Amino acid sequence: MSVLLDIRDLVVEFPPAHGDGPGGAARVLHHVDLRVGRGESVGIVGESGCGKSMTALAAMGLLPVSADVAGSIVLDGAELTGLGDGAMSRIRGRRMGMVFQEPMSALNPVRTIGDQVAEGLRLHFRLPPGEALERAVALLERVGLPSNRFSPALYPHQLSGGQRQRVVIAIALACGPDLLIADEPTTALDVTIQSQILDLIAEVTAEEGMALLMISHDLGVIAETTDRMLVMYAGTVVEEGPTTEVFAHMAHPYTRGLFAAMPARGLIGGGRRLATIPGQVPDPRAPRVGCPFAPRCPRARERCRIDTPAADPFGPGHTVRCFYPGREEHAA
Ligand SMILES: Nc1ncnc2c1ncn2[C@@H]1O[C@H](COP(=O)(O)OP(=O)(O)O)[C@@H](O)[C@H]1O
Ligand SMILES: [Mg+2]
Repeated sequence: MSVLLDIRDLVVEFPPAHGDGPGGAARVLHHVDLRVGRGESVGIVGESGCGKSMTALAAMGLLPVSADVAGSIVLDGAELTGLGDGAMSRIRGRRMGMVFQEPMSALNPVRTIGDQVAEGLRLHFRLPPGEALERAVALLERVGLPSNRFSPALYPHQLSGGQRQRVVIAIALACGPDLLIADEPTTALDVTIQSQILDLIAEVTAEEGMALLMISHDLGVIAETTDRMLVMYAGTVVEEGPTTEVFAHMAHPYTRGLFAAMPARGLIGGGRRLATIPGQVPDPRAPRVGCPFAPRCPRARERCRIDTPAADPFGPGHTVRCFYPGREEHAA
């Protein structure tokens, strides 16, 4: 499989703001490596604040202007870091589609859905308005909004949250991108709608041969939608591998903690308390010594507080950043 997106040694820092008090720059990504093959679906999972969105925003050239970025981001052989806004916005939308958590923030409340789906086609392919709208209607139908029930003349507020997310997916698909980046695409939706939207994303990316970067705090979402997965903790990729392999042999104590904290299907509301991982994520401004997970880790020994583990091979295509990874079989 040829590499489509190739992120290497990505470091993102925010310089100390005036009045921040003591501490240096906040380093939110620590030497992140991420590769997505053509047509491959790759997941990033981790607790809130671990750097998932920063990784996605870096790939799309949408980091806040105050961020300092080092490392390399290559899309289809072309380096993206250092590109100007104009060049980057031509790539965004045309080569990458995006779906975020909150569909309303991605949509313009005062423009019709047909117009918003057609916009990319007019902009990137210079289609005449009539033809662009015709294609938009077909795209809306493709995402489950047929024009006999969902006129392209509707406004976003006339739709439900799930329907709005379908419009966002249609916008993302419009220009036939090579890569779809979905950052918590179902977190803001009703539980009953979530799996429909995940199915739609999986279906359209597979049909179009698009690669998918699926970002979620929820291991269940990653299990359902990805071929390969990365587990992030405090700005570091701590475990990576084929999704089935990682689920079968969870190596990092953090991954195991996330799994233990996962709501078991059917058990919610049955009086069962969820396990949570005790302790707090490290302050991104604090200098880093040893394994970042050591203060919360049930397996940590002295070495973990002194040395930083490298990404070591654990199984087929499976790496883990841990001196004492779990070897037991997982009872799935
Ligand atoms: N503009 C910013 N300035 C400084 N720190 C930020 C900024 N935006 C996000 N962060 C920090 O970056 C870290 C990673 O955030 P993020 O990638 O959004 O996490 P996730 O998507 O995994 O929940 C967090 O510690 C967050 O507080
Ligand atoms: Mg996020």
